[in-house]
Amino acid sequence: MPSSGRASNLTWLVLSLLCIITQIQLTRAQTAVSTLFVPDTDTIVSFNFPPNSDDINFYVSTPDWYQYTAIGFGTSMSNALMLVMYPSADRKGVTVSPRTATGNTEPVYAPQIGITLHSTTINDNFDMVVNATCRGCQSFIKTVSSAAPMMFAVGPGLNLGSDDPDARIRRHTAYGSFAIDISKATGPGGISTGPGISGANASADAVLDGGGSGGLHKDENKAATAHGILYAIVTLAVAPFDSLVAGALGTRWAWMHGVTASLYFAFVIGALVPGVLVSREHVATQQFRTGHQVLGLLTIVALSLMFVWGIALSWIKRSARKRGQEPPESTRLLGAIHRWVCRAIWVFLLVNGGLGLKLSEQNLVLILAYVAVALGLIVILVPVYFCLWRCTKKRKEKEEGLEMPTIYDHNYH
Ligand SMILES: *[C@@H]1O[C@H](CO)[C@@H](O)[C@H](O)[C@H]1NC(C)=O
Ligand SMILES: *[C@@H]1O[C@H](CO)[C@@H](O)[C@H](O)[C@H]1NC(C)=O
Repeated sequence: MPSSGRASNLTWLVLSLLCIITQIQLTRAQTAVSTLFVPDTDTIVSFNFPPNSDDINFYVSTPDWYQYTAIGFGTSMSNALMLVMYPSADRKGVTVSPRTATGNTEPVYAPQIGITLHSTTINDNFDMVVNATCRGCQSFIKTVSSAAPMMFAVGPGLNLGSDDPDARIRRHTAYGSFAIDISKATGPGGISTGPGISGANASADAVLDGGGSGGLHKDENKAATAHGILYAIVTLAVAPFDSLVAGALGTRWAWMHGVTASLYFAFVIGALVPGVLVSREHVATQQFRTGHQVLGLLTIVALSLMFVWGIALSWIKRSARKRGQEPPESTRLLGAIHRWVCRAIWVFLLVNGGLGLKLSEQNLVLILAYVAVALGLIVILVPVYFCLWRCTKKRKEKEEGLEMPTIYDHNYH
């Protein structure tokens, strides 16, 4: 009996030891996952680094209302690998696009990076859910003392549904950085259970650097905003004011037109600079080939020409007047060309403002409001210009009728 008791004790001991070992292994298998929770965007991202492998298993749950959600490796976008996720064309699955960027610019699809999708779906909660493996991706990790620095970003609230891994995306509207604890994430077992949002509080071990809400930096494209606002001021105010000044004030006040034209030209060049900066950020505009950019650049070339043209014209007129002569007959034609080309430039600026709003995918209300204001301006200003033109024509006829004899008197009597 004692021997049998000892045996059962031994069995019990072995069994319980086995049980503990299994439990430890289970826990280890379950906890070889590091999970990021971003409360502001309702996003969780889990990572698992399988040992003796260069792969990374990842599991993402993120709302589909952003144009995309992206995870980046490292501390800066330059030359970093980024996993960009957006809904598929049928909005039933998720497109996972590995991309790299050369700087703080739109990342470009990197087809050499292998992504194995285990499952992707958009659930009833409008969350994109991805379970995938990034092949050979541990080599992109830039370890800093057992932590892997990572980046997180979400795109603007635009609707992108595409199966194309090279689909064009916009600049992120919020971003942050975080770190994966490598020792925590390394282990066998993959990511067996998807940590739901509700359970994320308990299971998440990583937050964005700077704290839950403080870690997500709002990102505004200040250059794009400046470009848009400056051109709106130019097109809707400065340009029409300049042509009013040019038309309303006679030769005695010609210098005023010089001032407003210089202001106009300075505004246009000032607004061009942020436009070029924004263009260089995005793949679609880096070559300066979109309609908005081509029309814009042509308009600026024409405006520069007309600026110099106007200066030359006023110089010719002024020096003729200094000599006590009437300006040469050719200045009439040159003046008429200047006026008509400048009017055409204004129309092109108005049209191009609309093209710019469309290129930057502004909402329809803003585009329609712009069209309404532009048409309203034309409706108001065309009769005003016509009146001005009639008045100056009459005044000139009067002046000519009165002045001819006086000049005649002066010079020849
Ligand atoms: C992810 O896919 C792997 C491989 O198919 C599977 O073993 C694992 O259980 C999946 N995880 C989740 C959370 O669905
Ligand atoms: C997680 O946190 C949110 C608020 O931060 C709370 O509403 C929710 O109940 C928490 N869930 C769990 C499982 O603790």
